[in-house]
Amino acid sequence: MKESDGWDFQPTRRAVLGAGTAAAALLATGLPQGAEAAEPEAPTPVPVTLEVNGVSRSLMLDPRTSLLDTLRDHLALTGTKKGCDHGQCGACTVLLEGRRINACLTLAVMHDGQKLTTIEGLGGPQGLHSMQAAFVEHDGFQCGYCTSGQICSAVGMLAEAEAGMPSYVTANLAEHPPLTEVEIRERMSGNICRCAAYPNIVAAIRQAGGTPA
Ligand code: FES
Ligand code: FES
Repeated sequence: MKESDGWDFQPTRRAVLGAGTAAAALLATGLPQGAEAAEPEAPTPVPVTLEVNGVSRSLMLDPRTSLLDTLRDHLALTGTKKGCDHGQCGACTVLLEGRRINACLTLAVMHDGQKLTTIEGLGGPQGLHSMQAAFVEHDGFQCGYCTSGQICSAVGMLAEAEAGMPSYVTANLAEHPPLTEVEIRERMSGNICRCAAYPNIVAAIRQAGGTPA
């Protein structure tokens, strides 16, 4: 374009950069630069009652609160651990109505009126659950971060096996699944141990399950 066309646009480098920044901000937020996004309104708290370790606990909760955050942040039961918060590590495993569940993947409000057992409810220094005692005896942990989830999961897993529930590696679906090392490893595969204490964990579960190696 020539000057004779009446067009004399000569942007500085600073102007080009400024325009680019404003465009990026608009694309990222959908708002003009400087405008503030409205805060989404917090939902109204809802009443939730859970029976936790034999004690009825009534709370007013944001309905988006996970069961894991309810235990740790509202009931101070910090034995249940938060590892990934995405259902991938098993550190948050608790027993809900006797069945194992990842507490990070479910909302407390979905379990109003239900019974929950956490590691604190299984046993304590005054009287260990047989699974806790077996973990101590077999050194089934190192840092201990995964351990409460491992123990709750193992207790739930033994109940599943005892009820005859097959796993992916059960060879004969017509038979009661034997509690072999392969079965235990498969059934516990949702519980990750970053310290790799797996051989000792398996030994502990075999002892608690009555099939020591
Ligand atoms: Fe729930 Fe990892 S914290 S599975
Ligand atoms: Fe450390 Fe399992 S004992 S992660």
